[in-house]
Amino acid sequence: MRLKDKVVLVTASTRGIGLACVKACAKEGAIVYMAARNLERAQEIADALSGVKCVYNDATRPETFTTMVEDVVRDAGRIDVLVNNFGTSNPGKDLDFANTDPQMFLDTINLNLRSVFLASQAAAKHMATQGGGSIINISSVGGIVPDISQISYGQWIYPSSDPSGLKNIFPLLFVPTDILLPVSADCFPGLQLKPEKHRALRCGLSGHGK
Ligand SMILES: NC(=O)c1ccc[n+]([C@@H]2O[C@H](COP(=O)([O-])OP(=O)(O)OC[C@H]3O[C@@H](n4cnc5c(N)ncnc54)[C@H](OP(=O)(O)O)[C@@H]3O)[C@@H](O)[C@H]2O)c1
Repeated sequence: MRLKDKVVLVTASTRGIGLACVKACAKEGAIVYMAARNLERAQEIADALSGVKCVYNDATRPETFTTMVEDVVRDAGRIDVLVNNFGTSNPGKDLDFANTDPQMFLDTINLNLRSVFLASQAAAKHMATQGGGSIINISSVGGIVPDISQISYGQWIYPSSDPSGLKNIFPLLFVPTDILLPVSADCFPGLQLKPEKHRALRCGLSGHGK
C-alpha cells in the first residue's frame, strides 16, 4: 500500500474534505495527524478511527502552524505528507469587486495564503533532512474560475495569491539544496455542497461550502 506507515498531517481536518483525507489516508495504513483547533472534537473523531492522532492548529494563530508540525515530528519522528486543506472566507462579507471591503479582502488572502506558506515551510525543513516528502495543497476551482462573489476567497483577480500559485516557489526553495524534490500537488475541488448549503443556495443566499 502506498501510504502504509507514512506520516500524514492534514489541516482543517474535522469536517468536509479534510476529514475525508484523514479517513482515506488512515484506510491506506498511514499514521494520520488531524490538525484541529477543537481538540476535543478531533479526539472524538480520531478515537473512532485507527492510526489517527491529533495536534493543535488554529489558523488565526500563525505560530500554531509551526508547532503542529513540530508536535508531529516529535511524536512520529518524521513527516511524509502535509495536506494543506485549510482555506476559508466569509460569504456574507466577501462579495464582488465593487462591494468587498478592502481590509477584508487583504485579511482573507493573508489568512489563506499564510496557512499554506507557514505549514509548508515548517514541514519542508524536516522533509529536506529526511530525504523527501509530499505537500498537497487543497485549492479551489474558485482560484482559477471567477465566481460571482467571494473575490477574496477565489482571488481570481490576483491568481498568484492563490495557494496553487505557491507551487511556483517550491522548486526555488528546494532545488538549490540538492537534497529534496518534494512532490507538490494542487487539488482543485469543485463545489462540494452540504445539504443545508444546497437549501441556502436555492433560497438565493451565497454558499460555496462555507
Ligand atoms: N466545500 C467546497 O465546495 C470547496 C470547494 C473547493 C475548495 N474547497 C476548499 O477545500 C478546503 C476544505 O473545505 P470544506 O468545505 O471541506 O471545509 P468545511 O467542511 O467547511 O470544514 C472546515 C474545516 O476548517 C476548520 N477550521 C475552520 N476555521 C479554522 C481555524 N481558524 N483554524 C483551524 N481550523 C479551522 C473546521 O474546524 P472546526 O471543526 O473547528 O470548525 C473544519 O474542520 C478549503 O480549503 C476550501 O476552501 C472547498
